[in-house]
Amino acid sequence: MNRLNRADRPYDIVLFGATGFVGTLTAEYLAAHAPGGLRWAIAGRDARRLEELRERLPGGADVGVLRAEVSDPASLRELATRARVVATTVGPYVRYGEDLVAACADHGTDYLDLTGEPEFVDLTYVRHDARARETGARLLHACGFESVPHDLGVYFTVRQLPEDVPLTVDGYVTADATFSGGTFASALDQFARGRQLTAAARDRRRHEPRLMGRRAVATPGAPRFAGEVGAWALPLPTVDPQIVRRSARSLRRYGPDFRYRHYAAVRRLPVAVGGMAAVGAVVAAAQVPPVRRWLSGRLQPGDGPSAEKRARSWFSARFVGEGGGRRVYTEVAGGDPGYDETAKMFAEAALSLACDDLPPTAGQVTTAVAMGDALTERLRRAGVVFRVAASR
Ligand SMILES: NC(=O)c1ccc[n+]([C@@H]2O[C@H](COP(=O)([O-])OP(=O)(O)OC[C@H]3O[C@@H](n4cnc5c(N)ncnc54)[C@H](OP(=O)(O)O)[C@@H]3O)[C@@H](O)[C@H]2O)c1
Repeated sequence: MNRLNRADRPYDIVLFGATGFVGTLTAEYLAAHAPGGLRWAIAGRDARRLEELRERLPGGADVGVLRAEVSDPASLRELATRARVVATTVGPYVRYGEDLVAACADHGTDYLDLTGEPEFVDLTYVRHDARARETGARLLHACGFESVPHDLGVYFTVRQLPEDVPLTVDGYVTADATFSGGTFASALDQFARGRQLTAAARDRRRHEPRLMGRRAVATPGAPRFAGEVGAWALPLPTVDPQIVRRSARSLRRYGPDFRYRHYAAVRRLPVAVGGMAAVGAVVAAAQVPPVRRWLSGRLQPGDGPSAEKRARSWFSARFVGEGGGRRVYTEVAGGDPGYDETAKMFAEAALSLACDDLPPTAGQVTTAVAMGDALTERLRRAGVVFRVAASR
């Protein structure tokens, strides 16, 4: 099987989890921006809410509706066999996600999600990458704020630097935004799974082929004052460095010896110290099951920041790249990172897989590898800033 013989499937894109917080924003984005003739459908577990959503969407009469439930593998297989691309917001992914990845890998269906869970990315690599390579399926994780601005931001930065020399890139993220019930639930789940996370990373290292003759390292950086961006740089232990590292392993353009460090940038020291203490407290609390349950009850699935709050939110990811005697400062910036921009990035990534002429790839791939140029161009057209701030 290869991608060419999937044209007879009824849908180009199926959006699973369409009735959730980000799912609804993504459905609205697709309804407003999908090219004429794109055949797409919304999918979820609640037929009535799917119908209500379809009625609200501009042009909704042309949008298909599919019922699927994560505990019913046949319904997931149906999604995978009826679409060329399946985009899912159904998380926490470690809890709910694997069967759909397996179905897509098996049926040669392109898959993308919004996971920020490193454990999930590692376990699907070990269990489903090989099968996806056989069938031609492209499996893309973290296609929202985690990790598109960072993956494509580093890709963009690297392309401003000389070829075939050792390169270092530091990324500094600043954002003013809040999060949804779904994101909070996924984060709590992750914080409580330190042991499984380490085991999944170890298992992946055992399966991943060694990188011959090149080095690609990406880590959360150590805390320090970063004069180059005028802010305190704090380690940010998100999935982003893992994704950047995978892009660097796959793309020779990142040079023979590539290093990335990932930080949150905070201007004022008390805010930096308070932020680290708050994250530490939530991580500690998540280890105690009753406290974790109490915390997860504070924000319900489906809840999220209002349109007004989102309109005031923003993000900026700044990068400092160096190599071959050149230094470059770049930025990727946009509006509300967690939701409006995430829905935009997610929908545009799905559209890119469905519509763009992309380099031939298969298996677990990153956005930079599967669609670096095409998705950067799409996001620029959709208002996300990619710019070179300075270079010397
Ligand atoms: N990468 C990023 O930057 C980023 C940004 C934002 C969110 N996220 C992640 O995206 C995911 C969704 O976030 P959200 O805020 O949209 O969460 P949410 O509102 O809780 O939505 C979750 C979706 O999953 C569906 N679902 C849950 N259990 C299901 C089941 N058994 N069968 C079928 N569908 C099921 C829900 O269906 P119902 O509608 O029927 O309840 C809902 O549509 C989370 O994992 C979050 O961490 C990532």
